[in-house]
Amino acid sequence: MEVILRAATLDDAPLIKIWDLDDAVGYSGGDDDNHDWDYELSRSVRWREFLIAEVDSVPIGMVVIIDARQEESHYWGEEVPPDAWAIDIWIGDQAHRSRGHGTKMMKQALNRCFTERGASVVMVDPLQSNRRAIAFYRRLGFKDVGPRRFGNDDCLVMSMSADDYRTVNRVARTSGAAVTDLKR
Ligand SMILES: CC(C)(COP(=O)(O)OP(=O)(O)OC[C@H]1O[C@@H](n2cnc3c(N)ncnc32)[C@H](O)[C@@H]1OP(=O)(O)O)[C@@H](O)C(=O)NCCC(=O)NCCS
Repeated sequence: MEVILRAATLDDAPLIKIWDLDDAVGYSGGDDDNHDWDYELSRSVRWREFLIAEVDSVPIGMVVIIDARQEESHYWGEEVPPDAWAIDIWIGDQAHRSRGHGTKMMKQALNRCFTERGASVVMVDPLQSNRRAIAFYRRLGFKDVGPRRFGNDDCLVMSMSADDYRTVNRVARTSGAAVTDLKR
């Protein structure tokens, strides 16, 4: 089933707020993830994209790609390398999880970061307790960087370099996976 990523708009705010109430979404965001959606979605900044994932024109979740160095709160700290990007992802309703949609969302988000934005590395920061998300990222080719505390949240920083991304794509291509699959 095809997953489309499109830019989020202010009209998506009510649904995103409902997704925030989902236990798994609320838990995965930890303490540091309280967005004022009406404000955030009404402004456009070069260092971030809010993307809504749709299946059959039905919004199912969200991906945020962030230039970690340019991001205004400097959440990732001052030491991040140039062209380091970060991804946040969540699917709003349990019924849409574990069906392969998240994998397709991530592959498209990675393609945007590496191919369109020229990322040198992409980072994710699941809570250390979110074992399922950690397994999900490892399956996509992310490598563990190490534990890191963000505010009150004990996270595991994981990353994928541009070289890793090219290798994962090459292996998938030579093993017969359609290249288009990698971008879905
Ligand atoms: C983490 C998250 C984005 C992963 O997305 P997802 O759509 O559930 O993940 P996928 O379905 O692509 O892959 C995960 C599982 O589905 C299986 N799967 C993959 N493709 C599949 C398909 N076509 N059909 C059925 N199952 C499939 C995988 O083997 C995997 O199984 P497992 O997790 O039980 O071992 C999603 O579960 C989510 O939003 N969770 C709550 C919020 C969250 O934790 N976000 C991450 C914050 S760091």
